[in-house]
Amino acid sequence: MKQVRLRAGVDLVNIRELADMLETSGPSFIDSCWTGDEQAYCNGSVARLAARWAAKEATMKSLGHGIGEIDPLDIEVVAHEGRPPRLCLRGTAQARAYEAGVYEFALSLSHEGDFAIAFVVADNIPDCTPYLVKGNRRAHGGLSA
Ligand SMILES: CC(C)(COP(=O)(O)OP(=O)(O)OC[C@H]1O[C@@H](n2cnc3c(N)ncnc32)[C@H](O)[C@@H]1OP(=O)(O)O)[C@@H](O)C(=O)NCCC(=O)NCCS
Repeated sequence: MKQVRLRAGVDLVNIRELADMLETSGPSFIDSCWTGDEQAYCNGSVARLAARWAAKEATMKSLGHGIGEIDPLDIEVVAHEGRPPRLCLRGTAQARAYEAGVYEFALSLSHEGDFAIAFVVADNIPDCTPYLVKGNRRAHGGLSA
């Protein structure tokens, strides 16, 4: 059977709907979905939070898993103003990536008007686990892109 090397995931988030959810839910909601560093970078911008939520769901899709199987806090969007964002995976997300043989991700975000979108490409090499375990790349301290 032919092995699939690239897997894509995309997700679109309605920023207004997320703003309503943030308003009606308690602070535990935000803490359960976005890491402290993500919250600090977004600095109250719902558009940015929405793009990051889209990135988490797009990453889950690229790995063939969903909410309930991967903790959203284990997928972090690392960002610096004006630079391409990247993904850092830990815990449940890192484990699913290892199982899938994914060793690299590419991420792109956009937010405009009512919508935020994230597009993720996961690159997998069958049987790459020994390569990761050797620590040649980023096996320690989180799989990142
Ligand atoms: C980067 C750029 C294309 C973003 O486009 P935009 O229409 O202003 O904004 P979008 O909503 O589509 O995208 C915003 C996201 O782009 C991402 N981004 C920022 N700088 C980036 C860069 N240099 N490369 C790739 N992605 C970038 C960020 O994730 C940002 O999300 P955030 O604000 O929540 O962190 C625009 O700011 C630009 O032209 N910058 C100068 C040129 C440049 O750096 N080009 C590189 C990419 S071709």
